[in-house]
Amino acid sequence: MPPIDNVTIDIKKCTGCGFCVRVCPDNVFFLSEEKAHIIGEKCIQCGHCIAVCPEEAIISNVFGNALEFTTFTENMRWLPHGKSDIAELVQLLRSRRSCRNYTSKPVARNILEDLVKIGTTAPSGTNSQAWSFTILPTRKQVVSLGDKVASFFRELNRKAANPLLRLLARFFLGDSLGKYYRRYYASISQGLKEWEKEGKDRLFHGATAVILVGSGAEASCPAEDAMLATQNILIAAHAMGLGTCLIGFAVEAIRRDDNLKRFLSLPASNTTYSVIAIGYPAEKYRQVTGRKKIIPLYPEL
Ligand SMILES: Cc1cc2nc3c(=O)[nH]c(=O)nc-3n(C[C@H](O)[C@H](O)[C@H](O)COP(=O)(O)O)c2cc1C
Repeated sequence: MPPIDNVTIDIKKCTGCGFCVRVCPDNVFFLSEEKAHIIGEKCIQCGHCIAVCPEEAIISNVFGNALEFTTFTENMRWLPHGKSDIAELVQLLRSRRSCRNYTSKPVARNILEDLVKIGTTAPSGTNSQAWSFTILPTRKQVVSLGDKVASFFRELNRKAANPLLRLLARFFLGDSLGKYYRRYYASISQGLKEWEKEGKDRLFHGATAVILVGSGAEASCPAEDAMLATQNILIAAHAMGLGTCLIGFAVEAIRRDDNLKRFLSLPASNTTYSVIAIGYPAEKYRQVTGRKKIIPLYPEL
């Protein structure tokens, strides 16, 4: 954990309200003679102290201008609890749907970069922010990735089609190859045929850009961090006029095939958790639709 040399208190401004003491998750602050002081040895650099201080008495150099958006004007004021429009928020959440038809219009790089920055506003375990975002901004690059993913599945299908290999794999590795064969072999074969012979893109659905979200080895909650950032991106993209679709098949290929990782210049220690197809939607929906009924559990404790 870094020493606390990046947070200072302007003692002249501090009124000793104690808010920083209350919100800090790491007990960095204590109050003495009606002033806040720094005593902790570890700081996860979450910035809660700065956000809560009514006197702007806490100064830090760790935040910089990392979140300078270029495609819209941000309102930097903190929204109090209960002060946003829940009906509008739920409408946005429900209007985001997986998009499987895109126009050929490319998505500008600064829009993709703003989406990534929006991703990083998500929570992360111990504020590690150890996620990675890889942008493929052109359709040509998306197709190149599609070719590599297709090669991975062609090889997997070749293995899965062999009954002897399925039997051997079952003895040594469990039934995962058999399950793959029963569940996916036929549809993947068909998808590969369409990709090769007709140029039909059943993988990325014709998206013109891709963002891959991963996590480094130093993340304490790598999967959760990456997926929370991913959800932010999906929602923000809809608000920005873009369609998105998660592509689990590409995640699977990148995780299992080191050649694909190298192709994407991803370090060996990086794990990919989501591949997001992005583009301008070539479809318009008329209404939102339902979800399965959920019955929450209330354990008797
Ligand atoms: C982890 C994950 C992987 C997914 N992978 C794919 C995929 O490979 N191809 C695809 O077309 N949709 C994929 N989806 C999209 C789901 O099919 C979709 O989210 C689901 O049907 C609900 O529809 P909605 O996103 O429009 O609400 C994936 C979704 C998730 C959460």
